[in-house]
Amino acid sequence: MLNIGTKVYLDNPNIGELEKKYVIDALESGFISTRGHLIKIFEEKLGEYLGGYVSATYCGTAGLHLSILYSMKKNKIKERVGVILPALTFAATAHAVLYNNLIPVFVDVEYETWNIDISKVDDLIKICRSRGIDIKFIIPVHLYGNPVDMDEIRAISTEYELIVIEDSAEALGSYYKGKKCGTLSDFGVFSFNANKVITASSGGAIFSTSKEDIEYIRFLTLQARNESKGYYHEDMGFNYRMTNIEAAIVLAQLEKLDYFLMLKREFFKIYTHYLSDYVEFQKIKDYNISNYWLISCLFRNLDIPDLQKKLEQYGIPTRRIFYPLPLMDFYRDFTKIYLDNANPIDFYRNAFEIYSRGLCLPSSTKNTTDTIELVAKTILDVIKK
Ligand SMILES: Cc1ncc(COP(=O)(O)O)c(C=O)c1O
Repeated sequence: MLNIGTKVYLDNPNIGELEKKYVIDALESGFISTRGHLIKIFEEKLGEYLGGYVSATYCGTAGLHLSILYSMKKNKIKERVGVILPALTFAATAHAVLYNNLIPVFVDVEYETWNIDISKVDDLIKICRSRGIDIKFIIPVHLYGNPVDMDEIRAISTEYELIVIEDSAEALGSYYKGKKCGTLSDFGVFSFNANKVITASSGGAIFSTSKEDIEYIRFLTLQARNESKGYYHEDMGFNYRMTNIEAAIVLAQLEKLDYFLMLKREFFKIYTHYLSDYVEFQKIKDYNISNYWLISCLFRNLDIPDLQKKLEQYGIPTRRIFYPLPLMDFYRDFTKIYLDNANPIDFYRNAFEIYSRGLCLPSSTKNTTDTIELVAKTILDVIKK
């Protein structure tokens, strides 16, 4: 059984000496807010890693808000059009849709990958259009780091002329068919929240292969101020830029990304070795690579809150899967537009099933492989009892 003295981390950040050194450099430079050379360096380095251009933002949610807002502006899209997104995601994906006065149109997810079920998009678009709601965007989410089938997203977005914004908040370091997640659409958005593969404390980034688009978005993050004219603003701006302190932390983290990814792959191997006969892991297709941000699985015939309590007694923290957004009262007003009398739990049955039976397991790179092995063995003992 797990030695209670062994601390187990669910999704905690892994911060070391390098982060401290870079933060002290930033503090001593006097630039602690949205000015400062480290933000630029971070944008260049992440852009180089991803193969394009990056605007560093205050957080991933701000990145989603702005990439939608900018796309609306560029494509002259009016408010109240629909946005396709998965039923199973962190709420920020949908909140960013609402900030822009657009209508979230939730699609159920696939049982195996937990990602948006693209085969259901076509019907939903037709229903929405028949009710006067045009669909202009699709936001695939690489859930827990598992790549969405971007070829299928491309096919449907070409057919219906949809703008694609990849919510890659959880997927830095994941690959779809050999290409980096977040680089396969109009904009890719990343989060560097404390719980992500690498962190800036908070922090986010918008990626595009268009330098011009990213430069304008960066301008928007800095209050759309034309500095050559003093305090003169040329658009509706936001205070959304990453700070120099955040950039210091995430620059140090970026140097460790490959190591973190390697460690997480090892964690996944250990979990599958011990548990795959007893649980169903989120399926990662053969041609894809996940960053294993949060390693998650479905349990059979177990009461999940009860299982969590038992594991907690051994010092093993776990987390429930996201509650399906369209099953929340707040979002019902939107789903009414296209659900008619359908029971939402039936309509979103995979999302609900995954929520009901799933758990996220300790995946932080603060754990060692030995600790994860102990965790896996203990989970096995608990579920076999
Ligand atoms: C899928 C998803 N989208 C968006 C976000 C928002 O990112 P942030 O917390 O940096 O605002 C997160 C995470 O936090 C996320 O998991």
